[in-house]
Amino acid sequence: MHHSSYEQINPDFLIGKLRYEIASLKDSDRIRIFLDEYFCTREPLQVALEVTPEEIHEQYDSVLPSVLSKPVSILGFEKNELVCICLNSIQELSSENRHDPICDSFNVLKDDYSQDIENGPYRSVKANAIKVFLSELERGLPTSLPDCRRLFNIEIVVVHPMHKGRGICAELIDLSIKLAKSYDCDYIATCATAANSQYIFAKNNFSPIKEIQLSKFLQNGIPVFSNVKEDASSCVLMVKHIKE
Ligand SMILES: CC(C)(COP(=O)(O)OP(=O)(O)OC[C@H]1O[C@@H](n2cnc3c(N)ncnc32)[C@H](O)[C@@H]1OP(=O)(O)O)[C@@H](O)C(=O)NCCC(=O)NCCS
Repeated sequence: MHHSSYEQINPDFLIGKLRYEIASLKDSDRIRIFLDEYFCTREPLQVALEVTPEEIHEQYDSVLPSVLSKPVSILGFEKNELVCICLNSIQELSSENRHDPICDSFNVLKDDYSQDIENGPYRSVKANAIKVFLSELERGLPTSLPDCRRLFNIEIVVVHPMHKGRGICAELIDLSIKLAKSYDCDYIATCATAANSQYIFAKNNFSPIKEIQLSKFLQNGIPVFSNVKEDASSCVLMVKHIKE
């Protein structure tokens, strides 16, 4: 894989409603600004906790290098304005990381997550709560896909609110599937936290393999994401087999 050459070349399949580009590390700053404005304020888990950009930056900063160091993430522009981002990663699954001693409890939740949240990697409790929740949703995925050697993950998808409903998210999913196929991935997966994204991924033939009701994710006996809007009562881990 010649990573650097992808920055200039707009692969033929990155064609659609917008001008699409493969993102790289040099796009980090503008992606951070876009996330502050259009992700942190609209994605249901962050909205439920009313996170501020300051509280969530550490999490963004830990994700950005992994999604930008390989040519797997997509930016979409219209008249040079950034309209959407789709941040992706590729994970190699070996027999070691497939081993999951608690795989039997793939779908079983702990009674309480306060300890895990307290021990989280970030300074912000809210950022740790989101991290622990998403890790719990993803937990056991490699074990549940025994024929998957290489997994393509859609980590973050955001469309500028002025451009929503134009089918741009659906197009980003389609382009990501094409990218994943070009990198010889076996499956593509995502944690769909918003009801509309669950609908869009299902329409693109992603199957739900695990669902966590937000009301069941407790910290000291209280639902962490209690302040959720009606468009987000649960989050769903969704996958699609893409190997031909
Ligand atoms: C979720 C998001 C990416 C969707 O982007 P979008 O470009 O507006 O979505 P699309 O136009 O591709 O929608 C595709 C389909 O979903 C439908 N859809 C979109 N929003 C919907 C909603 N709130 N309820 C029901 N259907 C909805 C569209 O009507 C369309 O369906 P159709 O093909 O049957 O007409 C965008 O709203 C967003 O950025 N949200 C904030 C960040 C976020 O929550 N990201 C997802 C986290 S997993």
